[in-house]
Amino acid sequence: MVKLDILFDKLRFEEKALYNTATKKGLDVRLVDSRNIIITTDDLKSDHRDFSDIILQRSISHFRGQFLTYSLELCGYNVLNDSKIGEVCGNKLLTSLILEKNNIPTPKSFFSFNSDSAFDFIDSVDFNKNPVVFKPVIGSWGRGVFPIRNKETGKIIIEMRQESTSPFSNIFYFQELIHRPPRDIRCIVVGDHLVAAVYRYSSEDEWRTNVAKGGKAEFIKVTNELEDLALKAASVVGKGILGIDMMEDKDRGLMVHEINNTVEFRGASLATGIDVADMIIEYAKNNKKN
Ligand SMILES: Nc1ncnc2c1ncn2[C@@H]1O[C@H](COP(=O)(O)OP(=O)(O)O)[C@@H](O)[C@H]1O
Ligand SMILES: [Mg+2]
Repeated sequence: MVKLDILFDKLRFEEKALYNTATKKGLDVRLVDSRNIIITTDDLKSDHRDFSDIILQRSISHFRGQFLTYSLELCGYNVLNDSKIGEVCGNKLLTSLILEKNNIPTPKSFFSFNSDSAFDFIDSVDFNKNPVVFKPVIGSWGRGVFPIRNKETGKIIIEMRQESTSPFSNIFYFQELIHRPPRDIRCIVVGDHLVAAVYRYSSEDEWRTNVAKGGKAEFIKVTNELEDLALKAASVVGKGILGIDMMEDKDRGLMVHEINNTVEFRGASLATGIDVADMIIEYAKNNKKN
């Protein structure tokens, strides 16, 4: 019997759907709360097999998920997604650089590592022509992502970060504001396949299109261009279970702005009727290495 562990720290629609699907398919599946796991150096010994052959990493916390994946991989387990994917996709700076390096159209992004250079950057921007977006390098659900449309706001943001004690307060990520319709595109790629895609329309009085911010998933006709770009973007971070997010620039067309490592698919499943959980479980089953 194939054994599967689903690691979670919050049970969302997705973790429940994955668990129910795996149970229906006859897998020996456990939901494991990653907040309760204790790993010891003894776990490196080969007779310690506390976890299953296949592990789906579904922790929301980037750092918890990532450190746990590193540990489990060193103990010889097969974790989906692997730590290399988590490292790139969980970090917007790395994602942007790696997309650009691989010639995937992506918004122009700017990074600085100290508030003085961030002020210099804001001073150099011509906001009438080219407003920018600020983003935390690590984060999701649209939290802390917002457009900066003038110097004044840009400077206040930097000042606010100077007050913060977070180790990330000196890491600044700005991006050109893409002139797009009030929507973006979520593509779910599992292994070599684009299994579902949807538009996400932002809700009223909201600029961000995240479903977590009230965005609504709607049908999109999948063109060859969309499919090719989603698969190409997925291939540069590594094969896995990924949410490739794109925006439609009014002049340049599709641009990939983010790749999600612990992809949410509730909106896409409900809008398309595609059983994304089923495809993920099939993929996980066939990716049993040990
Ligand atoms: N450069 C941009 N131009 C226009 N809209 C953007 C830009 N970057 C992000 N957005 C909007 O903000 C949302 C959240 O940004 P994103 O980079 O995906 O961060 P998160 O990981 O929090 O989802 C996007 O889904 C999109 O609606
Ligand atoms: Mg996003």
